[in-house]
This record gives sequence, structure tokens and C-alpha cells, in this order.
Amino acid sequence: MVAIAKRQFDAVVVGAGGSGMRAALHLAEANLKVAVLSKVFPTRSHTVAAQGGVAASLGNDGDDNWHWHMFDTVKGSDYLGDQDAIEFMCRKANEAVYELEHFGMPFDRTPDGRIYQRPFGGQTRNYGEGPIKRSCAAADRTGHAMLHTLYQRNVRARTQFFVEWMALDLIRDQDGDVLGVVAMEMETGEVMILQAKATLLATGGAGRIYSASTNAFINTGDGLGMAARAGVPLEDMEFWQFHPTGVAGAGVLITEGVRGEGGFLLNKDGERFMERYAPTVKDLASRDVVSRAMATEIKEGRGAGKDGEYILLKLDHLGAEVIDKRLPGIREIAMKFASVDCTKDPIPVVPTCHYQMGGVPTNMHGQVYVPDGTNENIVRGLYAAGECSCVSVHGANRLGTNSLLDLLVFGKSAAEQVIRDIAVDKAFKDLPNDAADRSLARLARLDSATSGESVAEVGAEMRRTMQLHCGVFRFPDSLAEGVRKMLAVVERAKHTIIKDKSKVFNTARLEALELDNLVETAVSTMISAAARTESRGAHDRSDHPDRDDVNWMKHTFWFKEGDRLQYKPVKLKPLTVESFQPKPRVY
Ligand code: FUM
Repeated sequence: MVAIAKRQFDAVVVGAGGSGMRAALHLAEANLKVAVLSKVFPTRSHTVAAQGGVAASLGNDGDDNWHWHMFDTVKGSDYLGDQDAIEFMCRKANEAVYELEHFGMPFDRTPDGRIYQRPFGGQTRNYGEGPIKRSCAAADRTGHAMLHTLYQRNVRARTQFFVEWMALDLIRDQDGDVLGVVAMEMETGEVMILQAKATLLATGGAGRIYSASTNAFINTGDGLGMAARAGVPLEDMEFWQFHPTGVAGAGVLITEGVRGEGGFLLNKDGERFMERYAPTVKDLASRDVVSRAMATEIKEGRGAGKDGEYILLKLDHLGAEVIDKRLPGIREIAMKFASVDCTKDPIPVVPTCHYQMGGVPTNMHGQVYVPDGTNENIVRGLYAAGECSCVSVHGANRLGTNSLLDLLVFGKSAAEQVIRDIAVDKAFKDLPNDAADRSLARLARLDSATSGESVAEVGAEMRRTMQLHCGVFRFPDSLAEGVRKMLAVVERAKHTIIKDKSKVFNTARLEALELDNLVETAVSTMISAAARTESRGAHDRSDHPDRDDVNWMKHTFWFKEGDRLQYKPVKLKPLTVESFQPKPRVY
């Protein structure tokens, strides 16, 4: 083994967003030695961009309970979510939010001092009767408030942060156990082994595989790439959420909280078209339904704008006072990215890639597994939580504000499992001699390559391919062509070159390393999507327009080795209550 620096921790958490910091906090408070690696300063992790709220059935403004929340989540998932995990999450939601409140999270308040809650898409009262106020909000900056709260608590608990460090690869030994990560300091290029009894992936989403995305530039699927290279499959990658309201041409998120507060969508004729697509909850239908309705309006010539390319989000009727109190960030974003004062004019919006429902296969205790039939073979030492994981609570379509809930609940439950596991396996296992070889070889290739394509060119082709062939609506021939193109991108990504190394900063190497992770994410998405011959949730195929519960009530697993797919049935049995049997999904 090449001599490189090594440090030992009880737990290494890769990523400092909501799930990583929630997990790290629980671990550090249990007196474990915890390292958190982050490509950016922790409070700049992408959770900071979450706007509208965190779902919990507190019932602060009208009745609510976790059964209704569970029903909405199962229905929202288009019956692909595992009902045991969904029950687990919805039952723990209130506790998770109250914990955050006690950590100091500055939630907005009702007049009587309770946490303020607003309606969100697909969240309903009494099993679908109409919208409910379930999303606990700090104005339109809920993720920002959450991230700062968790960071401060972690500092207090003495979590060790490695800021501007990128994890490159997992270390797996001959038994298949994960023993830590190889990581690189971004500024200096120094490589280090972080040996750990537990390694927790919390790297967030990978929305940067698409050209138009609400995601930050750091969202490059690093955890997914690391898992795939280490022999762990990726689950349900065909399901990507297109948020209905990204600023047209810019991609920046306009929270669904706008519609929760009473805003609505209009086509070029000034028609409130959601009344036709979702007569009961209208603009507060689930995101896949609203995004498809918007795309249909645009496709059929009723889009606004010079080329009919966007939809209008009207909120001026809420009044400047409500907008400034509840949606101040939106007013700023609309001004900066669309030159619109939303207290007077509507915001131009389009469905924009926002969230991956799939990810690293994980049980509800954060343990990563490799499926074998219906068995889940646990990968010892490896855990995942948050958007990079697939538990699966979101199934084929996530409900708004269930993501921050997922981060809190599964970040903590993964940490609880780590604590249990470390109590049994107290010693560090010996590192294999080749622990860092894969990462060093990747770096050596980049440093020595004298010919090849630029990272930017290959990345642009990947994003174009995803956008064109795997968007809101999917077509069989186009998917097949998308697979061909993506397989070519995979090959091209192996031969990228950093041009004129003497003139570039180390970020060029990082972008090349990130591209490796992006292409694993993108190719797994395209191949999984081409294979699923039904329409469910966010996966909508022109040749199979209906959901097929006979053949497709199953999760997809894509294995990098051999580029193969495997399937496992959805878990319809909850923990303590009756199953919600699949029904036609209308809003
Ligand atoms: O619309 C939003 O505020 C986004 C929330 C979410 O994705 O959960």
C-alpha cells in the first residue's frame, strides 16, 4: 500500500446536509468520535435550499394524525413506497420536529405560539378529502434554518468537520465489510484514509445529471458513484421528481409553499388549468401530477411567453404583507432570476428536475444492503440516509416536505443503528493493502492523461441526453436512444483530460472526479427507465400509459458490474396497521 495519511474515527459521515448532520449529532452526543466530510462549508450544503417546510402531523391548525400522513405518502408514492418504512417515518415525524424545535430551530409561529404549518401538495385530511396544513415552516427558508440549527448543535457536541474535503471511494475488504473512505482535500489535493467502524453516506441528490435542475452544483451523486463502484446496486433510479415551479430559464426553486399559501398556476389564456387535471385539490395535487399538467399545457400550445415555453405562477393576490412575511425569499428570487416583482406580476415557471426518489438501498435503520431475491444482505459498516438513500418511503413520487422529514428521521435512526453496531463490534478491522488503490489510480489517470475530451464537453452531453431522453414524459424509442447515448458517455468519461494543467486550479480535478459519480447516476437512471414498461408516479411512458400492479409492484436494482437489473417486491405490509391497497390515484 502506498503510504498515505490515515486517521481513525468511530464513524465517518460523508456529507453535511440535513441527514448527515442529524446523524452526526446523535453520534457525537453518544460520545463517539465522529468525522463529517463536506465539499462545502456545512451550512452551504444543499439542504440550505429547502424552502417550504418539514411535514409532521402536529395538527396545529386543524385536526391531523400520522395515519392520514401515512396514507398520503403511500398514495403519493403511487404505491411503490414500502409501507413499513412509511409508517415508521410518519409515526416519528412529530418527535423529529419537536426535537428540532428544542435544538433552537426558529420556526414561524401561530398567534398562540405553536409551530406554523402550511398546506403542501398531496398532503390531505381524512384520506384525501382536501388540503391540510401539515408542513412546518420557517418562512420560505426552512432548510436554511434547519441546517444552521444542526450545525451549531454539532459544534457544541464536538463533531469534527473536514471542510472542503471530497470522499473519493469506499474501502471494502475481502469479507465485503466497509472500513472507511479515501478522501481528498480539495485545496491541496492531499489524499487521506479515514478509517471508521461505521461509514454513513449522506451525500444528497444528484440532480446535476439534468441540464435544468433546482439542485446546487455540488449535487453530483458522490455517494451513489462510490456505492456503485464498490459493488452496491442503486435502487429505483428511474424515478426523478420534476418540481412544478422552477424559474423558467434559470432552474431556481420557487417553493410549493407559494401554492400552499394560496398562489396558483395559469396558462397563457389566464385559465386556472389545474381545475381540469385535479378537481379536488387543484394546484395542490402531488408534484408528478402538476408537472405533467403543466408540460401538457405547454405541449398543446397554451404555454405563456414568446414561444409558449412556460406557465405563470400568480401570487400577487396574496398581498405584499403576506408575501413579505411568509415568502420573502421567493420575492427576492423572482426579482433576481426572472426580473419580476411577484407582488404585482406572475412568475414564469417550468417543471424542473428536483429530487431523486431512488438511491443506495437502505433499510429503515440506515443499513445498506444488497438484495438477493427477497433477502437483504447487509453490507457491514455501511449506512446511508437522506436523498442519496432509498428506504423506500417516497416510492415513485415524493410529497413536498417529506424530504426534510426523511433527513431527520432516517439520519437519526441510522445513527441509532451505528451506536448499536459499534457496541458489538468495538475494534477496527485491519485495512486491506489495496485500500486506497482505486482512488489513487483514478487520480493518476487524470494527472497523466495527455489526450482525451474535456470534462465539460462530456458532462454537457450527459446533461443533454438526460434532459432530452428521460424527462417528464418518456417515449420508448427515445429511451432506447438515450441508453445508447449514455453508454457512450460512460466510455467517454473514462478518457477525460484536464487540459493545460499548469493553468487550472484543483477544481478541474474535482469536476472530473464528480463526473465519474454523475455518469453512474445517469446511466443507472436511463437503463432502469428503459426497462420499466409501465407509468407510475414520476415515470410516465407513452407506450405504457397505465400503472401495472400485476407486473411492476417491485423495486429496481441496477448493478454497475455487468450493467444488470434485478427486482424485489414492494413491501405492502406496514408495521402495525392495515395495508393501503393500491387504488387508482386521483386528486
Ligand atoms: O417546494 C418546496 O419548498 C420544496 C420542498 C420539498 O422539496 O420538499
